[in-house]
Amino acid sequence: MIPEGVKIPEHIAIVMDGNGRWASSRGLPRTAGHKAGAETFRRIATHCSRIGLPYLTVYAFSTENWKRPEAEVRTIMELLRRYLIEAREKMVQENTALRIIGDQSRLPEPLRALIRETDELSKRTNGLRVNVCLNYGARDEITRAVRAIARDAAAGKVDAGEITADYISSRLDTAGIPDPDLIIRPGAEHRLSNYLLWQAAYAELYFSDTLWPDFDEEELDRAIVWFSTRKRRFGGV
Ligand code: IPE
Ligand code: IPE
Ligand code: MG
Repeated sequence: MIPEGVKIPEHIAIVMDGNGRWASSRGLPRTAGHKAGAETFRRIATHCSRIGLPYLTVYAFSTENWKRPEAEVRTIMELLRRYLIEAREKMVQENTALRIIGDQSRLPEPLRALIRETDELSKRTNGLRVNVCLNYGARDEITRAVRAIARDAAAGKVDAGEITADYISSRLDTAGIPDPDLIIRPGAEHRLSNYLLWQAAYAELYFSDTLWPDFDEEELDRAIVWFSTRKRRFGGV
């Protein structure tokens, strides 16, 4: 429960980490951890919708995660495909939008077709906006944006002097989404692992030893209460 008077942030971003260790500690294959992690994601998204959070962004698969064994990658992609199918059926009824963030060019076409469908359905909803980072890496995102801006400059569409921080933000995958106020990393690691490096400039960082499959609504509420005690100065006094 979030005590009365506690202000909910506008945007929470989560690194869904610790699935593999959760499974290994139970003598299960890592893929069982990803299945359990997908369930946690469903529960947390439902909770975020219930408490009236405007934006939730989750890190589901990084540009570096392709280094993993093929069977593990396949399982994660299959879980994401199932989630998209499920979202397609329920998102309008639940008034939730879904946006996939990252480089979609490397994703299989059936997955991309599903993404196009959920993008269309998202236009009909105005509740929680869920962003799933899939084949996402902040350096890759910034590199793609810089290339697009360089092409525009070469074509005379933008002048070098017009390239401001806001302009760069508008060319990232997260264009139109406010920067995260709170970034939560469960899974006992204290790093960002190439997550939202540009957008995280003034985010509050909450680290937790809980492995993602064990992360629950109560812990999310604790992170929100912790966030509400932070004094954000944005460089001021
Ligand atoms: C996060 O859990 C899921 C992905 C990165 C796809 P991990 O699979 O990284 O779990 P650990 O960190 O190995 O425990
Ligand atoms: C970050 O977790 C990526 C996701 C949760 C999708 P990793 O498990 O890939 O991060 P590292 O390798 O521990 O930094
Ligand atoms: Mg990990």
